[in-house]
Amino acid sequence: MILEDLTEVRERVQEQLAQRKHRIHVCVAAGCLSAGSDEVLQALRDSVKKRGMEEQCLVKSVGCIGPCFGGPAVAVETDRVLYCGVKREDSDEIIEHLGGEPVQRLAFPLDDPFFERQQKVVLENCGSINPEDIDDYIAAKGYHALFKVLSFMTPAEVIEEMAKSGLRGRGGAGYPAGLKWTTVAKAGRQQKYVVCNADEGDPGAFMDRSVLTSDPHRVLEGMAIAAYAVGANKGYIYVRAEFPLSIQRLRKAIKQAEATTFLGHQIMGTTFDFHVEIRVGAGAFVCGEETALIASIEGKRGTPRPRPPYPAESGLWGHSTLINNVETFANVPTIVRNGGDWFAAIGTERSKGTKVFALAGHIRHSGLIEVPMGMTLREIVYDIGGGIPGGREFKAVQTGGPSGGCIPAEHLDAPVEYESLAALGSIMGSGGMVVINDATSMVDVARYFMEFCMTESCGKCVPCRVGTAQMHDLLAKILRGEANGDDIKLLEELGDLLRNASLCGLGQSAPNPVFSTLRFFRHEYDAHLNGAAKEIRGRDAK
Ligand SMILES: Cc1cc2nc3c(=O)[nH]c(=O)nc-3n(C[C@H](O)[C@H](O)[C@H](O)COP(=O)(O)O)c2cc1C
Ligand code: SF4
Ligand code: FES
Repeated sequence: MILEDLTEVRERVQEQLAQRKHRIHVCVAAGCLSAGSDEVLQALRDSVKKRGMEEQCLVKSVGCIGPCFGGPAVAVETDRVLYCGVKREDSDEIIEHLGGEPVQRLAFPLDDPFFERQQKVVLENCGSINPEDIDDYIAAKGYHALFKVLSFMTPAEVIEEMAKSGLRGRGGAGYPAGLKWTTVAKAGRQQKYVVCNADEGDPGAFMDRSVLTSDPHRVLEGMAIAAYAVGANKGYIYVRAEFPLSIQRLRKAIKQAEATTFLGHQIMGTTFDFHVEIRVGAGAFVCGEETALIASIEGKRGTPRPRPPYPAESGLWGHSTLINNVETFANVPTIVRNGGDWFAAIGTERSKGTKVFALAGHIRHSGLIEVPMGMTLREIVYDIGGGIPGGREFKAVQTGGPSGGCIPAEHLDAPVEYESLAALGSIMGSGGMVVINDATSMVDVARYFMEFCMTESCGKCVPCRVGTAQMHDLLAKILRGEANGDDIKLLEELGDLLRNASLCGLGQSAPNPVFSTLRFFRHEYDAHLNGAAKEIRGRDAK
């Protein structure tokens, strides 16, 4: 394909869309599908057919629209109306109201802060394109960035643009993408690999799988641009078996991209080759750690190894390997299209761009959101999230999953950026954001995450294998009201040991939820000591 072909596809799709007086988008991402959106899609199509409206009305399946709390979600694009909680029985009524007054009982206001406060870069196509149709992606300027780099930019210029953008890896650690790409590019003319980390095992996280099920070509395009920039010709996407929909749509997208020469041999008629394969992981959290992930792709047991050497120097089969997260790659096409400076103008001085979050827990509007870096936690929880349901109060927001921490109400005005969250004893992580209400015991939250780490520990090093179990037992003892002050001291000492002596990030960060709850909710620990009440929850614990 060349530019004329891309333009031709774009114009054809846009013309087809313009011919339809009514366009209805039905979310077929995982959340809405599990609530029955496939039945709603069929019922709407049947209703259109019944009325002989096929020529005027398009009913299209799209990726996550965002308000996953209200699935199945249906948007009448041409009327600027969003319906939530739609059932198949509602389809006739929706079709009858096309172009007129919306069906009020199902309508969710589009001027709600849930939508108005968001800024979509990574999610720009989610909810508007059909994830299984490459033409839809092209019509939304898809593969235009790949065309741009292959036609007009040297690999060094692409990396320069990435460095200028200030994009930091979205997988958790926030390492600058431009720097990592430079290291791989400098590894010389050896066999190199590009790997997309789609393991996403944190409890409460569903960002990466949503991007993959809603806009898979965007990730493939980002990977292809990265491969061109660093000099790789082979790529892997490591995605866990628990995400069958992501795998299915990725497989389809790879086939479509190969058939249109966006992947494979001699991409877009150039001499650049890039072949992508999917590797399905068996669901071990530790396999998201980059060295364990590499071992798993190589067919070995997925356990971490010491770093250095980092994968950029010695990765898959000893070769220089670029590993980035799904969201990191998903940012790349937009950065290339709009320029690094454009991206760097969004966000804060140290954290550029936007961040996708999976908003979950005790919150009215749970769902997939994207905000500019620097937005405060309060704005996310109360404006976008709509606050705490059920007449309860906010107690904490947990960011960063099992490696993160719990941030209390007095720090709700902290901006969401890498450094400010770290200063509060948490981390940005990959984007899981779980809101916790005042009926929750924070000691139990710490115990829950420690149990997760204990279960997911690969057992390779003693501090993590034994330490997570001991810390978990101590937390359970505290909750049973059988602990005293010495047990808290021991908990802290063990936490220090895990941080300093564990081999990989899992063990090193496993104590974070304990330390952050001890820092901000110490009174809840103290209330359990010396035979105190076993079930201390919420306001009673203060
Ligand atoms: C226990 C553990 C689990 C991890 N899981 C993931 C994951 O699911 N997805 C991910 O992108 N990074 C994960 N990481 C971070 C990766 O090791 C690596 O830093 C990341 O994939 C690099 O991509 P980025 O620079 O784009 O963030 C994990 C790290 C640890 C220690
Ligand atoms: S820290 Fe834990 S998960 Fe990491 S290598 Fe050691 S035992 Fe395995
Ligand atoms: S899954 Fe349908 S709105 Fe998110």
